[in-house]
Amino acid sequence: MPEITWALFRQQVAACAMCPLHEGIRNKVPGQGDLNSPLMFIGEGPGQVEDEEGLAFVGPAGQLLTRMLAAISLPRDRVYICNIVKCRPPNNRVPTEEEAAACKLHLRMQTALIRPKVIVLLGSTAAKNTLGPEIRITRDRGRWFERKGVWMMPTYHPSALLRDPAKKREAWEDMQRLRDKLMELGLYNDIYGGSPE
Ligand code: URA
Repeated sequence: MPEITWALFRQQVAACAMCPLHEGIRNKVPGQGDLNSPLMFIGEGPGQVEDEEGLAFVGPAGQLLTRMLAAISLPRDRVYICNIVKCRPPNNRVPTEEEAAACKLHLRMQTALIRPKVIVLLGSTAAKNTLGPEIRITRDRGRWFERKGVWMMPTYHPSALLRDPAKKREAWEDMQRLRDKLMELGLYNDIYGGSPE
């Protein structure tokens, strides 16, 4: 088994044709951010703006995510952000189980490279694919799950907050839980003063 490196990761994503999603996209969206961050965010898949720019969470949902992070004083360039699938599903539909499974190798590689201590799962697709199909976002958001020493919390996807602003109060509670967990683990100041890519 070759050593896992960022170069290998980038090469594998660029060459990937493991599912049909790569047909007709403009750019793959591997993910970006602070490669040394203890905090990782996982979303669903690229939308239109992300597909055009090759960067995760840069459209309207991404701008809201940036504001949510700012609300707990976390600069966005100090965290790592990626998605379950690296290619935009047509018309922003939810990726199928097969597509998510085909992309899992990439997510595993980048998680192994980042070695996050805390992962925030943005929305149902990220939560189910990471924690299991039994997860229900409305029931389980804001709860902490520990997996192999990594703390994971599902919360609403920022797109859901744009569609239904009434959910913002719960999302704000989740951001406070995130800040509390980072403080409890002694990571909050690390991220605030960390080194961006
Ligand atoms: N929605 C996602 O899940 N990911 C993005 O990168 C953008 C929108």
